[in-house]
Amino acid sequence: MMSQGLVTAAYIIAAVLFILSLAGLSRQDSAKNGNLFGMAGMTLALIATIFSEHVAGVAWILIAMVIGAAIGIYKAKRVAMTEMPELIALLHSFVGMAAVLVGYNSYFNAHAVAPDMHRILLVEVFVGVFIGAITFTGSIVAYGKLSGKIPSKPLQLPFKHGLNLAALVLAALLLTWFMKADGSVFALFIMTLIALAFGWHLVAAIGGADMPVVVSMLNSYSGWAAAAAGFMLENDLLIVTGALVGSSGAILSYIMCQAMNRSFISVIAGGFGSGSGSSSNTEIAGTHREIQPTEVAELLKHASSVVITPGYGMAVAHAQNTVAEITDILRREGIQVRFGIHPVAGRLPGHMNVLLAEAKVPYDIVLEMDEINDDFAETDVVLVIGANDTVNPSAATDPTSPIAGMPVLHVWDAKNVIVFKRSMSSGYAGVQNPLFFNENSFMCFGDAKATLELIQKAL
Ligand code: TAP
Repeated sequence: MMSQGLVTAAYIIAAVLFILSLAGLSRQDSAKNGNLFGMAGMTLALIATIFSEHVAGVAWILIAMVIGAAIGIYKAKRVAMTEMPELIALLHSFVGMAAVLVGYNSYFNAHAVAPDMHRILLVEVFVGVFIGAITFTGSIVAYGKLSGKIPSKPLQLPFKHGLNLAALVLAALLLTWFMKADGSVFALFIMTLIALAFGWHLVAAIGGADMPVVVSMLNSYSGWAAAAAGFMLENDLLIVTGALVGSSGAILSYIMCQAMNRSFISVIAGGFGSGSGSSSNTEIAGTHREIQPTEVAELLKHASSVVITPGYGMAVAHAQNTVAEITDILRREGIQVRFGIHPVAGRLPGHMNVLLAEAKVPYDIVLEMDEINDDFAETDVVLVIGANDTVNPSAATDPTSPIAGMPVLHVWDAKNVIVFKRSMSSGYAGVQNPLFFNENSFMCFGDAKATLELIQKAL
């Protein structure tokens, strides 16, 4: 058993480690250490909690942890990079569920609390269960949509905003009743049902294209749910950790919205991204030119500067290792090769950076959009690998485009643009891309990995 003083000291160190972890994760070259700090903090926090004076039944906790860890390791080893957002969504649902269970548990033990704390605890229970229930069903729906188990089309119930507002008002009225009746279980139960339905509807009404923002928003909710559980359990570390997750999730949602030029409110209000993104009504007149992998290899051999802009298709094709090998060959020939990464390329923040790091592409040639956008005009060849919306010029030039105003990579300024994709179909936002019909654009059709391997051979 650890004394309370020792537990508190361990909690403070764990909280500092979590902050260091977040700081580390904000940069690619320090991300690995960031993860290590996080793991160390969590290990310390678990040891301190399990062996603190308040905890009984350690054996049960250890059994549950072994089972949970086994499932977690199995899942983490099997998950493909493209399935990461849905796994995260599912994990958030567990945090929501945990907050609901902690809430009910605290409610049924509320009599054990000192009278002056009793009413505060009741508010904590009510708020914790409310946030937890929304997070739970919201995350399940997000998981269903991302994994294709539920259609990604936004659900358009009549008066949907009215329904959401009604749910909030009802919850507020139930809170008043709950407090007046000194903790009516009936009010708590009805509110739980409303919050479950509210969470479900909130996410069901949002289109597939906005799902990553929603996942990050649910991440934020799950943090606040954990913080609420921390208040109920009087666990300071859970409050601090929950608040860190809650605020970092909110900041991330905000950054993502900015990168897509959408307001957070319009994402939550739903509607955009109703299609699966496979086709678009806006046909673009014009012809495109095709290019063969051997011709691309010739072009690359004679280039002096090359920029690679990867997107979701590189992840689908698992082409990152071939991309890294081609980069290596070209650099050995003395050709300057750099990467331009759009903040929302792929399907989750940092998606491309993780793939390129995994393929051991040096960090110093991986640049952000703002760092490379002015350099395209001096670039001989741009390789657009499975990217579409993030290199769509209509975002910058056509105010009527659904992605108008979204900052994009100005690849069209380069001398030659080679686009690697399988067909002429549109990207995630479902809008056609006029880039493909430009004079200096060439389409290299096929699975990105297969075509890049042919180029690698020819080099
Ligand atoms: P997308 O616009 O989604 O386009 C990806 C392209 O890859 C598709 O046009 C597809 O064309 C191609 N592709 C798919 N599989 C391929 C394969 N095996 N080989 C070669 N090409 C393949 O990609 P992007 O430019 O990365 O843009 C990301 C989109 O997701 C943006 O609209 C963004 O707003 C949205 N989004 C991202 C995030 C985050 S955080 N990253 C969050 C929310 C929304 P074919 O089918 O013709 O092959």
